Amino acid sequence: MTLDVPALLARLTLAEKASLTSGSDFWHSTGVERVGIPAVMLTDGPHGLRKQASDTEQLGLTDSVPATCFPPAVTLASTWDPALLRRVGEALGAEARAESVAVLLGPGVNIKRSPLCGRTFEYFSEDPFLAGVLAAELVLGLQSQGVGASLKHYAVNNQESDRMRVSADLDERTLREIYLPAFERVVRTARPWTIMCAYNRVNGTYVSQHRELLTGILREEWGYDGLVVSDWGAVDDRVLGLAAGLDLEMPASGGETDAEIVAAVESGALDEAVLDLAVTRVLTLLERTLPALAAPGDYDAAAHHALARETAAAGAVLLVNDGLLPLRPVAGETVAVIGEFARTPRYQGAGSSLVRPTRLDDALTALRAGVPDGVEVRFAPGFRLAGAGPGLPPEDDVVADDDALLADAVEAARGASGVLLFLGLPAADETEGRDRAHLDLPAEQVRLLDAVHAVNPRVAVVLSNGGVVTMPWLDRAAAVLECWLTGQAGGGAVADLLLGRVSPSGRLAETIPLRLEDTPAHPNWPGEEGHVHYGERVFVGYRHHDLVGRPVAFPFGHGLSYTSFDYSDLLVRPEPDGSLTVAVTVANTGPVAGREVVQVYVGDLAASVARPRRELAGFASVHLAPGEAQPVTLTVERRALAFWSVRAHAWVVEPGTFEVAVGASSRDLRLRAEVDVEGPGVAVPLSAASTVAECLADPVGGPLLREVLGVGPGDPLPEPLSDPDVWVMLGEVPLRKFARFGMGVTSADLADLLGRVERAEQAERDTAAAEPALR
Ligand code: BGC
Repeated sequence: MTLDVPALLARLTLAEKASLTSGSDFWHSTGVERVGIPAVMLTDGPHGLRKQASDTEQLGLTDSVPATCFPPAVTLASTWDPALLRRVGEALGAEARAESVAVLLGPGVNIKRSPLCGRTFEYFSEDPFLAGVLAAELVLGLQSQGVGASLKHYAVNNQESDRMRVSADLDERTLREIYLPAFERVVRTARPWTIMCAYNRVNGTYVSQHRELLTGILREEWGYDGLVVSDWGAVDDRVLGLAAGLDLEMPASGGETDAEIVAAVESGALDEAVLDLAVTRVLTLLERTLPALAAPGDYDAAAHHALARETAAAGAVLLVNDGLLPLRPVAGETVAVIGEFARTPRYQGAGSSLVRPTRLDDALTALRAGVPDGVEVRFAPGFRLAGAGPGLPPEDDVVADDDALLADAVEAARGASGVLLFLGLPAADETEGRDRAHLDLPAEQVRLLDAVHAVNPRVAVVLSNGGVVTMPWLDRAAAVLECWLTGQAGGGAVADLLLGRVSPSGRLAETIPLRLEDTPAHPNWPGEEGHVHYGERVFVGYRHHDLVGRPVAFPFGHGLSYTSFDYSDLLVRPEPDGSLTVAVTVANTGPVAGREVVQVYVGDLAASVARPRRELAGFASVHLAPGEAQPVTLTVERRALAFWSVRAHAWVVEPGTFEVAVGASSRDLRLRAEVDVEGPGVAVPLSAASTVAECLADPVGGPLLREVLGVGPGDPLPEPLSDPDVWVMLGEVPLRKFARFGMGVTSADLADLLGRVERAEQAERDTAAAEPALR
C-alpha cells in the first residue's frame, strides 16, 4: 500500500498537521478521518508484546493480551548469537502483526554503565559493539514482518534514578565511543522505522529537544530516515522539540501541545516547513506499516515457545563447574531441587516490558519429567518470595516460617546425589523506574546455601536475576549456572542444561565484579543535584577492569561449556580498505558437541590518547562435534581501530602497532598477534601554541625550525637541546614562548616560520582541491 504523502500533506489544515505529531491516546498515533489517515498502535516491547487488552487511555501494566515472553535483552545478549536474535525478531514481528500493532517499542540498546541500573535486564551489554550487532539483527527480524522497531532510549539513558530529569554529563569522546555506537550501528545497518528519544538530559539539554543528537548526529551524520518518537512523557517543550527533530509526541497531550505548535507557526516562531517535515515522517511510518496492518496473519504459539526455550538455553552462562554438571542421576538416586524459583520462575523484569506469557514452564516440572525412571526428585522451597508480584504466588500461598523452610531444605539435600539450588533476585529488586541499591543476593538465600552446603557440598547454584549479583559465597558452590531471566520457556531450557541434553554456550555480555565498589561508575552514581557525571569516561566495564588489572569475579565474554576448545593458527591480514581479516582454527577437544564463541579484541599499543587496553572488535559462533576442528574467519572493521578525536571531531586511526588477541573472554586470550596499521593520525595544524617538540615532528615545520636553529635534517639538535634532561623541559615549550629561552631564536624568526608553514599548508589544500579537475 502506498500513501501519496505530498498530496495528503497539501490537503491537511495546520491544526490537523499539528495533531498528527502527537498521540490520540496512550498507545495510538492520531488519525485524520477526513482525508483517510488512520491511527496506528505503538506498544511495548521489547522481548514480547505488551498490548493492553482494554483501556488504552492510560498505562496498565498487567492487563495485556497473551504473547510469547521471550528472554529479555540481558539473556538475549548472553547468547552472542546474531542469527538467533534475527529469529526472535521475526517471531516478535509475527506476533505484533497478528495483533495489528504497527510498532513494537524496542529494543533498548543503552549501555550498562553500572550494574545497579534497574533496567539492565532490558539492555544488552556494557559493550557497544556487542549491543549494536545483536540489536541490529533483532530489528531486521522484526521489520521483516512489516512491523516497525523503536530503537530506545536514545541516548545516554543509563539509570533509573531521576530518569525524567537527570542530566548525563559526559565528554564528546565518551559519547561517541561508548554511548552512541550501538545506536549508530543499528541505524546504519538495520534502519529502524522509529527511534525513541530518552527522558533524560544530556549535558544539560533534554534529549527530546537536543538538536545535535536528534538531527545533527542521527540524520545528518548517520543518514537516519525514520521517525523520532518521544519516550512516554519525555517532551519538555514541544515546539523546541519539533524544531530539534522530535517528530511524534507520545502519549496524547490532550491537544495542549498541538495548540502550542499551531500558535508557534501562526506567530512565525516556528517555520511551518519544520512541522511539514515531521508530518511527512509520520505519514512515511504509516506507509511502511499499513501493508502488515492490512494482512495481520497468525502465528504459531508452540513454535515461538520452542524458540523461547532454545534462546533461554543459549543465553545461560555456566560460570564455574567442578564437574558436578551435567547431573546424570541413575535409578535409585535422589536429586534435591531447592529454592522457590524452581517452582515459581523469575523469568522477566517489571515495568513497561512486562509480558503476559502464553504459557509458563517451571524447572521443577521439567526436571521431574527429564530425569530417568527410578530417580527421585525431592523439592523444598527453601525461602519465600516476599509479597505477591508479577509471576509470584498470591500472598496467602506464602509460607511464613523461614526456619521451617530452611530445615526442610537441609533435609531434602541430605544424601542427595546432587543439589540444584535455585537462587535469585526478588522481582521487586529489578524494575523500571528504580535502580538497585546493592548487588547482593538476599541474605536468607545465602543462609540457605550455607546450610545446604554444610550437609551436602554437591551444590549447583542456578541463578535467576536480570542484573549481576556479586558472589562472595562462590566457594560454597560446586557449579554456578547464571540463567538471567529466561522468559516463559526457561523451565525446560534450564532442565536441558542441568541434565546435559544441551551444553551451555552463553557468554557474559557484562563483567561480574567482585564488589560493587570495583565498578568504574561507582564514585559517580547516581549523581547529585540533577547531574550525573560520567567521570570514568570510556573506561566502562571491562575497559576499566582490564586497564587497571583489577581482579573480577568473572570477566566479560566468559562462559564455560561441557566440552573444551582449543585455538590455533592465528592469522591477521590488513586489507586494502583498512579492515583486518582475522583467521583462527578452533577445535573441540572435549567429550560432547558444543558451541564456542570466538572473540576478537584489539588494542592500540601506543596511542596519543588514553585508550582501553583492548576492545571487542568481532565475534563468531562455531558449532563443533567432539574432535572436530574448523577454521573461523572474522573481519575487524577499520572503525574498531579508531578513537574519536575531539580535536579533529572525527574518528581517527593512528598509525602504529595494534595487538589483535583471540580467545574465550577478555581475560582468556589464547592467541595474540601484532599488526602494523597505517593511518593519517590526527593532523594538528601548527600554531604559536604548538610545542617545540610538535613543531620538530611536523613534516613542514620540522625542517624550518631546524633551519632556524642552524642544524640540517638528521643532524643532532644544538646544545643544550641535545641534552635529554634539558629536552624534556624545552621540548614542551610553546613556540610563542620559545624566544625567551635563550637559544638565539627570536620572536620574528618564529613568526616567519609559522607564516611559511601556513603558506605551505595552503598550497597543499589548493593542490588537493584542484585534483578532481585534473582527472
Ligand atoms: C519506558 C519505555 C516504554 C514506554 C511505553 C516508558 O516509561 O521508558 O521504554 O516503551 O514507557 O510503555
